[in-house]
Amino acid sequence: MTKATGIVLSQDHIAEDIFSMRVGCGAIARTALCGQFVTVYCKDRSRLLPRPISICDADRERGIIRLVYRAVGAGTQEFSRYQPADSIEIMGPLGNGYPVEKAEGKEVWLMGGGIGIPPLLFLAKELAEGRDDGSRIHAILGYKDSLYLNGDFENIPGVHVHIATEDGSAGKAGNVMDARPDTRPGVIFACGPTPMLKAIRTYALTEQIPCYLSLEQRMACGVGACLACVCRSVEKDGHSQVANKRVCKEGPVFEAGEILL
Ligand code: FES
Repeated sequence: MTKATGIVLSQDHIAEDIFSMRVGCGAIARTALCGQFVTVYCKDRSRLLPRPISICDADRERGIIRLVYRAVGAGTQEFSRYQPADSIEIMGPLGNGYPVEKAEGKEVWLMGGGIGIPPLLFLAKELAEGRDDGSRIHAILGYKDSLYLNGDFENIPGVHVHIATEDGSAGKAGNVMDARPDTRPGVIFACGPTPMLKAIRTYALTEQIPCYLSLEQRMACGVGACLACVCRSVEKDGHSQVANKRVCKEGPVFEAGEILL
């Protein structure tokens, strides 16, 4: 984990309230794993806490990370105003990331909803790279209405994209569960809002399909020190004797049976 000063290389408004920023930051890009996140510090020091943003992509050779984020509050709105050549303070990579080795030789479902879609792009690229065993990768993406990043997924060879929109304006009307293919996956990797993850968790546990969920949680320190981000877990923590896990430290990715939603 590093705290580094990156340089903004590009900033694009790709959907309503959704921005895509490429940042030159070799220290983080070189070590980033799929499913990890960074925290970004505001220049306005009245906002002390950094904002967590998942890593949407990392070009390890060129030292570039891509952050796709929703500009909802004052902090992320500040980030959306950054322009190429601006500096940006970033800490990362943080969290555990997806266990990509669990996908070996298996049909994979990547299920993402809303702002949970971006980290799955990095994962889809990593899984597709060098996959020559004929097993499939399905990216099942759920949106409220306007689409984004779907073209990036479609451009990855071997990845089959399925779209759901709440208003039915594209793909299946409904959510990711409505848009899932008519097959049985060997493993599911998901990220998105809690109601979506709950439905996927129930499905996976009922069908006994290995499933890994990345939780979206409010954070403060981002490094395991403040307990602002805990979720409920099945097992008690051996140290504190409380059935909790810190999403920023033990997560954000958890095996579905390990946590309660
Ligand atoms: Fe502080 Fe997770 S945000 S412990």
